[in-house]
Amino acid sequence: MSATEQLSIRVEPTQQSRLSQVDFNNLTFGQIMSDHMLVAEYNDGEWTDVSILPYGDLTVSPSMSALHYGQAIFEGVKGYKFADGTVSIFRPEKNWERFNKSASRLQMPEVPEEIFLGGLKKLLDVDRNWVPSKEGTSLYIRPFMFATEAALGVHPSISYKFIIITCPVGAYYSKPISLKVETHYTRAAEGGVGFSKNAGNYALSLYPTQLANDAGYDQIMWTDAKEHRYIEEAGTANLIFRIGDSIITPHGDTILHGVTRRTIMELAEKWGYKAEQRKVSVQELIEGIENGTVSEAFAAGTAATITHISSIGFEGNDYHLPPVEGREFANKVLSYLNALRYGEIEDPFGWNY
Ligand code: COI
Repeated sequence: MSATEQLSIRVEPTQQSRLSQVDFNNLTFGQIMSDHMLVAEYNDGEWTDVSILPYGDLTVSPSMSALHYGQAIFEGVKGYKFADGTVSIFRPEKNWERFNKSASRLQMPEVPEEIFLGGLKKLLDVDRNWVPSKEGTSLYIRPFMFATEAALGVHPSISYKFIIITCPVGAYYSKPISLKVETHYTRAAEGGVGFSKNAGNYALSLYPTQLANDAGYDQIMWTDAKEHRYIEEAGTANLIFRIGDSIITPHGDTILHGVTRRTIMELAEKWGYKAEQRKVSVQELIEGIENGTVSEAFAAGTAATITHISSIGFEGNDYHLPPVEGREFANKVLSYLNALRYGEIEDPFGWNY
């Protein structure tokens, strides 16, 4: 069955919408959830009970294995509203594919297209009035899955819940960010789970990020586990640099393969830049900032969209990037993607779902 075929989804509408309480002119990130959520259960090798329910608390067992052994994965997707009221989701099939890669790595079941994409479409039909339309705002969509077996043995759970919640959001970062190059703590090692979007990758970042915040930085620039020599990602987003006329992003299985990163690299190539996925050393970056060949650096992610990097801290020194107004590529890509996502221009790629 494909997402366009009919899956039977029970809908239990909320008796009390919270929509009128939302100030759509002052949206922050991830604090107000829409009225409904999609919930599906996995038991005995099958997905069942796909339902759209009023958003609300769950009852879980204290011995539920996700709480103990961390079988928990998620995605971040965004929905946009066009001027004519059409609701569009940006490349969700790429998130579905990545979700199932994360699932396989954590020995969890894959979620079929008709539940992930078909369920999402139906959920957004029900909550379409929650999709904001102002430029810079969107409906953030959070599909996630966790292990629900009530048992303390270390083994793959036999049961799971797949849920999609959504929330109208504004910017995740409201200004350019400073990054601290991390040379002690490690996010991911070769052969590990760095490419997967699992909850543990975010839990492990919290302590080093707090240390970076205490030192005056907004986020971490993670480096490789072996030598802390090559740049990986920022934890909440991927990293992209402009060095000369090349648009460069680190690659490999220790970083998340972001949908926004992929989109930007595809556009760079199409627009005639040299688009490279390759190792970038901290030394190359620092020397490039000093000699002026690194003219742009930004974080790219669903939540972060495109967030300019203002400065990079390394071994006690801060290296400042040029003013954001002159960053030709990042500014062009941001305007183009905004126009595409809000339906203001033709979508030649079929990225709007
Ligand atoms: C996203 O960009 O969707 C993410 O999941 C990052 C998150 C940590 C806010």
